[in-house]
Amino acid sequence: MAEATVHAAVFVLFGGTGDLAQRMILPALHHLHAADAATRVHVIGVARAEEDDDSYRAMAVEALMESGVKATAAKAWARKFLSYHPIGEGRPDEYASLKAAIEAVETAHNLPGNRVFYLALPPAVFGPTAKGLAAAGLANGKGYSRLVVEKPFGRDLKSGRALNRVLHEGWTEEQIYRIDHYLGKETVQNLMVFRFANAMFEAVWNRDHVSSVQITVAESLGIEDRAGYYDKAGVVRDMIQNHLTQLVTLVAMEPPSSLSASAIRQEKVKALRSIASIDGDEVVRGQYTAGKVDGKKVRGYLDEKDVPNRSRTATFAALRLDVDTWRWKGVPFLLRTGKRMARRLTEIVLTFREPPVSLFQTYDACHLTSDTLVLRLQPDEGFFLYFDVKTPGPSFALSREPLRFNYKDAFGPLPKAYETLLLDVLEGDQTLFVHADEVEASWELYTPLLELDTPVRRYAAGSWGPKQSNALAGMGALGWRNP
Ligand code: NDP
Ligand code: BG6
Repeated sequence: MAEATVHAAVFVLFGGTGDLAQRMILPALHHLHAADAATRVHVIGVARAEEDDDSYRAMAVEALMESGVKATAAKAWARKFLSYHPIGEGRPDEYASLKAAIEAVETAHNLPGNRVFYLALPPAVFGPTAKGLAAAGLANGKGYSRLVVEKPFGRDLKSGRALNRVLHEGWTEEQIYRIDHYLGKETVQNLMVFRFANAMFEAVWNRDHVSSVQITVAESLGIEDRAGYYDKAGVVRDMIQNHLTQLVTLVAMEPPSSLSASAIRQEKVKALRSIASIDGDEVVRGQYTAGKVDGKKVRGYLDEKDVPNRSRTATFAALRLDVDTWRWKGVPFLLRTGKRMARRLTEIVLTFREPPVSLFQTYDACHLTSDTLVLRLQPDEGFFLYFDVKTPGPSFALSREPLRFNYKDAFGPLPKAYETLLLDVLEGDQTLFVHADEVEASWELYTPLLELDTPVRRYAAGSWGPKQSNALAGMGALGWRNP
């Protein structure tokens, strides 16, 4: 299909009035349009509420303005490219009516029949909606038909498999785009370039040279007003099974045979399946108590709105993974993530082994430290390579200094993850989306962990989590990097 043709489509946004649609998807679609990347994408918002086109456009304009779009631009886009269709209870006649609405938009705007169905819906409705669309004949048409599914992809192995089965009843894997927005971040995409376009790093990217890998995804935000979802999910489902695990596989995978989506996914799944089952003694869970974040007092998790007062839901977890491959055997992968931590920070840190012979230790002021590579995924995106240099002067001392690269200095602001991902959906590139096999392999790994009854430690909001997380095996003398 010609470049311009793939960008001409009807984009059916299920959950079109929801939080995700308003904060992320509508602004991303507008931005792609403004940047001349998706100039003929017509959006139909779908939800159960009885809205009409005008009230939906007004809601969308407000959401766009909230995201920084000027009123005139937002209104002009909404008038031309947005409409609304209520789906009611999702009966067959209601899907038939949605199909007629899609066809009407296609005819009015002379579109080639390409359709994207984006499920920004409560997870319980993913399956029924995918089925309803397929039963109405909407999984196949004149152009492409693609189904975009938001996380969570199930709650455990059983429900993850069940969801895959239902999706596959009406849609092929090639039509399904499971979103993990971390994969759309430029810095995450760059992991493969960093490793496979620079022979220098790949040469040391293994157990002979690396003594540990740390992955931190720290958030300063709490659960906001998402207790209904979060208290049932907890940190393992919300962050570890998806975002952190994607980072692990991108660090651990072998070079793919090509850059095709299937070659990359194959290597990622192989890496995932090489992870040994998690040792319950190497897992630390935590829940935040009241504290101070960015100089402001914040309440503890149990005092957040709608959190049950005896909740044991973990908002923090640290754990050790062992990737049992030739490349990584014996190198601990130490993961940690939490809400209300000291600052917002996503980093991957590779600590390199010390030189086999310490020539410089004969000098008192020479404290050798391991070289470390810090890939800063957000904020202040970039990387640092820390190594020892001789401190200038007559005495012989060493200092640890970084080589730095900063994205903003080199390229200016980075594109937003959802823009990248939505464009890939239109262009049919599945590289940055999660395959059914990845979902199941990661649930296989984490489902036993969800069933473990490990203690939930307290940590003060604004800290780096419970102190027990410093004692994971293989942590090394340097401990977690807490910049
Ligand atoms: P919201 O509760 O804010 O919105 C849900 C939307 O779905 C509303 O438009 C609602 O409208 C509609 N809806 C609910 N039930 C049905 C139904 N049976 N048929 C059709 N439409 C329905 O949820 P979010 O926007 O926060 O989340 C949506 C999805 O995105 C979830 O799966 C969530 O896990 C995922 N997600 C959200 C993130 C976020 O930051 N918000 C981040 C990452 C993922 P109505 O009630 O009128 O039908
Ligand atoms: C979402 C989680 O998937 O990712 C949220 O549901 C979390 O709880 C968010 O805050 C973090 O994303 P980012 O891009 O802000 O790191």
